[in-house]
Amino acid sequence: MRPSTLDPRPMNDSPVRLDLHIDPDAPRRELEQLRHGLLQEPPRVSSRYFYDAHGSELFERITELEVYYQTRTERRLLQRHAGSIVERTGASQLIELGSGAATKTRVLLDAMRDQGSLHRYVPLDVSESMVRRTAEELVAEYPGLEVHGIVGNFLEHLGELPTDGRSLAVFLGGTIGNLRPEDEAVEFLTALGSELGAGGWLLLGTDLIKDAETLHRAYNDPQGVTAAFNLNLLTVLNRRFGADFDLSQWSHRAVWSSEAQRIEMHLVASRPLEVFVAALDLRIRFAEGDHLLTEISTKFDRPKVDRLLESSCFEIDQWYTDERDLFGLALARCVAR
Ligand code: TRP
Repeated sequence: MRPSTLDPRPMNDSPVRLDLHIDPDAPRRELEQLRHGLLQEPPRVSSRYFYDAHGSELFERITELEVYYQTRTERRLLQRHAGSIVERTGASQLIELGSGAATKTRVLLDAMRDQGSLHRYVPLDVSESMVRRTAEELVAEYPGLEVHGIVGNFLEHLGELPTDGRSLAVFLGGTIGNLRPEDEAVEFLTALGSELGAGGWLLLGTDLIKDAETLHRAYNDPQGVTAAFNLNLLTVLNRRFGADFDLSQWSHRAVWSSEAQRIEMHLVASRPLEVFVAALDLRIRFAEGDHLLTEISTKFDRPKVDRLLESSCFEIDQWYTDERDLFGLALARCVAR
């Protein structure tokens, strides 16, 4: 499929280029995936439905919660090590997968600018408004910066990345832990490695295995922001697919599985419920206590990150972590194997 370049001016005039990857078949595939997920045992829904405008706002609030240590710990690690990361990689192009609001990005862009290597920023995100806004803000903040935004999905559109120039790809926020470890995470790293090629760099943020209580608290804040965030997914399903979830009958639950070493996010039915999803012409019955699975959040330690990267071309070059071993940043390089 040919990307449409939205900016009417040719690239040599404008520092911003935006490619939209809208697959004409996407709506049909999306419905199929939704049906497939809902018919699993337990039923599951893709976590992409968290992030409508309200959901994105709620997630921003989660990242500011005292109990949610991840975002601030990762930001501190970046602040501490951005200079040496940029120096080791010699990157002139920063590729950010799942860029969102790009708040942590500026730390790396600053380091690249200070070292005089900053040339291009490539955000890839599903949200067009997010990519557009970030692109506009950043070209204003960094004179001379080119932004080549890609609106798409990091599991499907890695082939569209411009990979000329020395690239550093970053995948932050522990998002790797939200991919299914048995297939999605490996496929993602493999595809990224073949795009970047031998010598390409990846900075990967991973949330670390820690005591169950700290993890549990991070996903059950007392203000209920996390619960509102999880429940908002039902509002999105109601609006997008004509479902009739009654939010007052569902509650948020986060469960730590010590075998799978992951947090699982559930929405639990408080009594027997019947839900109709108009777009699928599908009726689903839930018994009291049944749940929908909305996200997995796998936690890592260094050996586990090593093993995961080994399933693709990457090898850890540097491992950065905080004093309390809350969060890990792996700077990895694609090697020819
Ligand atoms: N990707 C985030 C994580 O794994 C998402 C998240 C934070 C989340 N809190 C949540 C998802 C609560 C569902 C419910 O940490």
